[in-house]
Amino acid sequence: MNVAGKTIVVTGVASGIGAEVARQFQAAGARVIGMDRNEPSTPVEQFIKIDLSNPASIKAAADCVAEGIDGLCNVAGLPPTAPAEIVMAVNFLGLQALTDALVEKMSQGGSIVNVASLAGAGWPGATEQINSFLADASFDNISETCERLDIVGPRAYFFSKEVLICWTMKHRWSWRDRGIRMNCVSPGPVETPILADFIATLGERAEEDMRIMDRPGAPTDIAPVVQFLCSDESAWIRGANIPCDGGMFAHVQCQMNNLG
Ligand code: NAI
Repeated sequence: MNVAGKTIVVTGVASGIGAEVARQFQAAGARVIGMDRNEPSTPVEQFIKIDLSNPASIKAAADCVAEGIDGLCNVAGLPPTAPAEIVMAVNFLGLQALTDALVEKMSQGGSIVNVASLAGAGWPGATEQINSFLADASFDNISETCERLDIVGPRAYFFSKEVLICWTMKHRWSWRDRGIRMNCVSPGPVETPILADFIATLGERAEEDMRIMDRPGAPTDIAPVVQFLCSDESAWIRGANIPCDGGMFAHVQCQMNNLG
């Protein structure tokens, strides 16, 4: 896969998966524009501070980006321990607003990659709530929308990723005339600073998952998949959600569908 010479925007660049995605793109000869609320420790070509819970900050950050982006990797996200309306704002509304603002600046054949999660795999059981959220939710009404749809506590993290996977599928052909496509990567548990939050929130279920898995993932397991989805070789993959989880998605599906 070749990404040399491409210009790629990476959110969440200051930590974990986003930092590794940026490092691997740069090692492969791409130019990285990093975005985060915190300064990255690894240098990038351009760093733009952004608060994805704040529409004014998103607009200001998008205004700093020049035309001609080849990739947008939406990696930044909050764990389930954050308040529900903030999780929905950062993990979905902010990602959506940034994407809407940057898609106009993307080159022909560009690629958008959203980091979702194994936690979003339950979307087929929540399509009514998801459609309702996508129809009405905004930064102005996010608290009321969460209340109305009963998105409280850690459920917000799962719901944010369910919405993200469905929104990605809905956009399968939105920019087909420009060759621009959007896909998701769904990691299982990955060793980054937020893994402890997941284990604290999910309790016994997380411990059981960690027991079944041979090992937790590392950012180095996820970054190559993100990079492949930004390469021209993956041009026909559109609206997909690719699990990268040591087999956990397959395991859950086998259990749910009595496949053994
Ligand atoms: P991390 O905590 O290491 O990195 C998240 C980054 O997002 C941080 O640099 C943080 O500053 C940034 N961020 C958070 N809120 C922000 C805001 N309001 N504005 C701008 N930037 C903000 O976490 P990690 O693990 O690298 O997570 C990256 C993505 O991967 C997230 O979307 C997460 O949901 C997803 N993921 C992580 C898994 C894991 O086990 N670590 C599993 C599945 C998905």
